[in-house]
Amino acid sequence: MTDAARSPEDLGRLAQSLLDELARVTDEPGRITRTYLSPAHARSIDLVGGWMRERGLTTELDPVATLRGRRAADEGAAPRTLLIGSHIDTVVDAGKLDGTLGVIGGILALEEIERRGLRLPFAVEILAFGDEEGVRFPSALSSSSAATGTYRREWLEARDRDGVKLAEALIAFGCDPARIETATIDPAGVLGYLEIHIEQGPRLEHWGLPLGVVTSIAGQTRMSMTLTGMAGHAGTVPMDLRRDALAGLAEIILGVERIGRQGTGELVATVGRVQVFPGAGNTVPGRVEASLDVRAAADTPRLVALERIAWEAGRIAERRGLSVALERNVDVPTCPMDEGLQEAFARAVVSLGLDLRRLPSGAGHDAMAMARSFPSAMLFIRSKAGISHNPLEWSDPLDLGLGIEALVRTILDLAEKERDR
Ligand code: GLV
Ligand code: MN
Ligand code: MN
Repeated sequence: MTDAARSPEDLGRLAQSLLDELARVTDEPGRITRTYLSPAHARSIDLVGGWMRERGLTTELDPVATLRGRRAADEGAAPRTLLIGSHIDTVVDAGKLDGTLGVIGGILALEEIERRGLRLPFAVEILAFGDEEGVRFPSALSSSSAATGTYRREWLEARDRDGVKLAEALIAFGCDPARIETATIDPAGVLGYLEIHIEQGPRLEHWGLPLGVVTSIAGQTRMSMTLTGMAGHAGTVPMDLRRDALAGLAEIILGVERIGRQGTGELVATVGRVQVFPGAGNTVPGRVEASLDVRAAADTPRLVALERIAWEAGRIAERRGLSVALERNVDVPTCPMDEGLQEAFARAVVSLGLDLRRLPSGAGHDAMAMARSFPSAMLFIRSKAGISHNPLEWSDPLDLGLGIEALVRTILDLAEKERDR
């Protein structure tokens, strides 16, 4: 007995209702904030894990808190595994779709294959990563890095704003950092990794298209900058004798903006987080810590910009009697998507009667880390006005449904190929 196939409209409505439910799981009432290893992250694992189990998937939590839901193969002697995923952590004051759509979309695509009574010659595993955004700790893409055996152990020593070490947070979450190696998935048994995600940019909307196939993902470097001067009394330290770390940072930030504007190859450079110490209105700031995020479509403009920023920060610090320390926490080169899997997504888009367009991604994705071990590809879904990392983030539910239907068709296309292997 098979159930009727759901239309893209129905799939979109269903996806939207699950996205709405997941959006209610937050660490901050009134807005969506679900950072890595937080109480809301734990509740989201329960919720999403429940959705997986209700649909017949076997779930487990790996040592870095990636939720994995597995559907066994229906046929084949030594079946391989197709990985599908994205992330369930969010930025601060996030939208409902970034990351979560890829996980919910994967679950609904598998449910749809089941409803249609279709059989697969490979196992499928849905991966709900927990640390894509890198908001709580300076360790973006760490959960997908663990899946590819490229976890940087120094991340375990990194601390959040409250001084909690990542290793301690993992243990408190019930995970075992000593077993991180066991999160690695053997590439020999994997057919590839697929991720559907909202575009988070304006191109698809501009073209009037709901879906687009991703060609490559912009490289990104994330750093911590610490400037140290001398704290002092705001009423007594004369202006010419100050070593004000925050004033120095302000000058550096304007330099970062200028270097970003002057760069080529879609260079972007952002300081998005600043912490001032001791942080009192009547004290000259003695120390500041800030984030730096630099990205470009190719590696050279990013690396050149990083050198210029480091040089400029050093010059400004020296002139102001400050010391500056720059630490690279994340460094991921520009990442082309697998040609064969791009074609599989492309065939699915065309089979839906849609025009095919391809586009690069400016945002980072777990697919960048997964591509280190597995053929990886992404499908983008149109975002309204290109808005993301903002509660106004929105996509038409019909577009969501088309994206999930395209994922279903891509899985079936890969199933045909796998049988012919
Ligand atoms: C993730 O959203 C990133 O690109 O920073
Ligand atoms: Mn994302
Ligand atoms: Mn994001």
